[in-house]
Amino acid sequence: MISPTCRDRVVAPSLLAADFSRIGEEVGRAIRAGADWLHLDVMDGHFVDNISFGPAVVQAVHEHNDIFLDVHLMISRPDHYLERFLAAGADMLTVHVEADHDVAETLRRTRKAGCLAGLSLNPATPLEKVEPFLDQIDLLLCMTVVPGFGGQAFMEEVLPKIERAAALREERGLGYHIEVDGGIAADTAARCAAAGANVMVAGSSTFGAVDMTAAVRDIREA
Ligand code: DX5
Ligand code: ZN
Repeated sequence: MISPTCRDRVVAPSLLAADFSRIGEEVGRAIRAGADWLHLDVMDGHFVDNISFGPAVVQAVHEHNDIFLDVHLMISRPDHYLERFLAAGADMLTVHVEADHDVAETLRRTRKAGCLAGLSLNPATPLEKVEPFLDQIDLLLCMTVVPGFGGQAFMEEVLPKIERAAALREERGLGYHIEVDGGIAADTAARCAAAGANVMVAGSSTFGAVDMTAAVRDIREA
């Protein structure tokens, strides 16, 4: 498959909303429903107030599937765990700018390992915080909820930041994807796409849908 560019719509169901007692089958369900990427939320109970799963789960998913793994590290020390997630088979490794690490160095190490590098910012974090790193990233993740839990309401106040991130990309001649994560369904995906986002992470609206194929398609076409 040809890698998508920032002009292509990508739908990434978030495994956080899957039935954890049947992870393998749930991954298969997302793939059959037409998922482009699978979004894996790693939470350490410190950077965010929830604990999800670690590299062992990423590796198990990687070993049994070919789908692109979009790994979102909501952890305080991404630099300390980086090698373990790279070895586990992440295709994209996204770290938070608010975490306690040398951001430029973490991004450099990620790319050096042959992995795509993503950088994320929380709804309250201004775009200025990530501006110094934009030429070092493959993806900018603009959180549309306060990270930690699935099923929260979309925060529309993030839309102007997405517009500025897209404008800045144009100005600087860069090509990073703009990803949104939190409260994404067809309606909010349409608003994010109009603002300039192309990668749509969706947990509850995909895994929780009666018809997951229709849910993924509606987000892609929104
Ligand atoms: C939130 C996670 C999200 C979450 C989204 O902290 O980063 O990926 O799974 O869930 P929904 O789509 O249910 O808001
Ligand atoms: Zn996420």
